[in-house]
Amino acid sequence: MKERLNILILGHGARESAIAWKLQQSSRTATLYMAPYGIPGVEGVRIDPLDFDAVARFVGANSIDMVIPGGEGPIVAGIADALSEVDVKVIAPDKACARLEGSKEFAKEFMSRHSIPTARFMTVTPDWLEEGLNFIDSLHAPYVLKADGLAHGQGVIIRETADEAKQTLREMLDGMFGEASSTVVIEEFVAGQECSVFLAVDGEDYLLLPAAKDYKKIGEGDKGPNTAGMGAVSPVPFVDAEFMEKVERRIIQPTLRGLREEGLDFRGFLFLGLMEQEGEPVLIEYNVRLGDPEAEAILPRIESDIVDVLEGIADRTLALKRLQTSDLCSAAVVLAERDYPGPVDAAKPVEGLNAPDAGYTVFPGEILFTTDNLAFSDGGRVATVEALGASLPEAIGKALAGAGDIHFDGKYFRRDIGFDLLGPSPLIPSADV
Ligand code: AMP
Ligand code: GLY
Repeated sequence: MKERLNILILGHGARESAIAWKLQQSSRTATLYMAPYGIPGVEGVRIDPLDFDAVARFVGANSIDMVIPGGEGPIVAGIADALSEVDVKVIAPDKACARLEGSKEFAKEFMSRHSIPTARFMTVTPDWLEEGLNFIDSLHAPYVLKADGLAHGQGVIIRETADEAKQTLREMLDGMFGEASSTVVIEEFVAGQECSVFLAVDGEDYLLLPAAKDYKKIGEGDKGPNTAGMGAVSPVPFVDAEFMEKVERRIIQPTLRGLREEGLDFRGFLFLGLMEQEGEPVLIEYNVRLGDPEAEAILPRIESDIVDVLEGIADRTLALKRLQTSDLCSAAVVLAERDYPGPVDAAKPVEGLNAPDAGYTVFPGEILFTTDNLAFSDGGRVATVEALGASLPEAIGKALAGAGDIHFDGKYFRRDIGFDLLGPSPLIPSADV
């Protein structure tokens, strides 16, 4: 075992900044790089994460020991396979396993084959339009339509009436999301409370990471269009020991057994998107990575050395590891551009990112830094502010205070992250925002 590792993180968002921040706390991290851009304290490498030849050359030339892809793009495109001949640990499943996220049809068929509780569904291609329309008639409102392939987190559409759902089905099959929606999964709507459960998996064993709840809608009170995530909290009060026992027995164990039976060697992070329905877990989707903004909320709650955990995934030694987690609560609030999730103006100066000992942590998201560390926005999700507290209200209050301390023109954030979990009369410290 090598004592100190050179590590390359792929991706440009607050999740990748949180991974970098956690790695910086490990005495086992030697040199850390991020591609395609760096953040203060982490050198940026101008490589496209999807250009696997360039990644391989950089790994060879800089004695990189570990590559961590943050997002699904390079994972689903097969970065683990592309680097399999290179002497480097890639913290991501191979292309065959990554179909759990890259194809909704594959994921749903996998769930059916292994009797994992999920919503009733039908897969439709243009040749099967009539069957798809009939299936919509057999369901109750609302109706869920999913592009089979990756669509930048926008490929799920929920319609209130059967007529609207039918119209949307036609439009999706007609190329609304290009090739990604040439196959569509029509699904029964599952009512309930959502949560995200994360596992580190080494092909045989797994470690459970802290669970989180993500807030996907742009507007307060869960209104408006879906985003890639506007905030997250961890832990989640309804994800208690009894619920997790059901998740392990009905979802995690059949999933890992199913992977093995199908000859799929999953090593990486597995992310279960779950709905809690009257105390029972229903699996909505798999992802094959950490979530964003969930990672920003859960990584600060992990006390174990993160390099040891990552090495356990790559070297199949998770059975020898235990994960220490903090009892503190964590809240993460995403600072977005006011037009997000629509097209946004970029290159706005961002101020207030370096608040030492402020009681919160800022993870730069879509931000570009100049060589003297001036910050300019570079997309819709500009930064995530995370705070720990003895209770969820305390963590949320501190994160909201931090959100108020950062400034850019058109800053928008949800002030109700986690409020739904606090019961009827939450004692939220008033935030100066
Ligand atoms: P995804 O892009 O797959 O993460 O889905 C986006 C969001 O759509 C999920 O986080 C859920 O809020 C919602 N969703 C997906 N499938 C269903 C379903 N069958 N029933 C209810 N909501 C769903
Ligand atoms: N926060 C949800 C995701 O990362 O897909």
